[in-house]
Amino acid sequence: MRKNIVAGNWKMNTTLQEGVKLAEEVNEALKNVTPKCDVVICVPFTHLATINGVIDSAKLGLGAENCADHLSGAYTGEVSAPMVASTGATYVILGHSERRQYYGETSETLKTKVRLALDNKLTPIFCIGEVLEQRENGTHFDVVKAQIEEALFDLSAEDFGKLILAYEPVWAIGTGKTATDDQAEEMHAFIRGVIADKFGTEVADNTSILYGGSCKPSNAAALFAKPNVDGGLIGGASLDAASFMGIVNAF
Ligand code: PGA
Repeated sequence: MRKNIVAGNWKMNTTLQEGVKLAEEVNEALKNVTPKCDVVICVPFTHLATINGVIDSAKLGLGAENCADHLSGAYTGEVSAPMVASTGATYVILGHSERRQYYGETSETLKTKVRLALDNKLTPIFCIGEVLEQRENGTHFDVVKAQIEEALFDLSAEDFGKLILAYEPVWAIGTGKTATDDQAEEMHAFIRGVIADKFGTEVADNTSILYGGSCKPSNAAALFAKPNVDGGLIGGASLDAASFMGIVNAF
């Protein structure tokens, strides 16, 4: 079933102590409310197990920001999907533009990561999105379609149905420049069409597609009001419990 979801992406921020405090604050804020969306925080690997111990998993989901493209073995410094799952986390962000841009992640690598995540019962939050130049030269739809095709079209419809997608125009990430709600809706409707063509309308209708890129309490309600925008992947604004909750409450 298609769900509304607000997921935080803490990126490389907070020490363990700061992160635990932030998670506790979000957990506390959720205690006496029933938000109209699922709420998830995706946090650094080092924080996962500890944070899992301080949050109510019935109210607040927990995820990693990445996982390795191998199951185990001699890959110094990497963290595998089974390791992430063993902390109690149930989500993993994959294909974030910062991973693609700074760490050379390709659709081929991402295909493997998605498989490993699913095999370990992690829900991938799979990111797609164009850079500014592609938006300006009008290739943004082709780019986003190719990102989906290359990494996800080998999946069965059943497995595709386990994914969450996040459309994050790279020019809007951390720049303060949000896509307009109409730009987001236009792309989200296009993405849903791409899914429908490959996997059928039922799978497409049930897929949650989140928007990410300078989403904040002041613009979240307008974005979330769009029929094809099912929530947000929140970077900067997820580092403060009050602003993150402001976005959660935008539904
Ligand atoms: P931002 O980041 O909200 O800080 O723009 C979003 C993301 O990169 O997931």
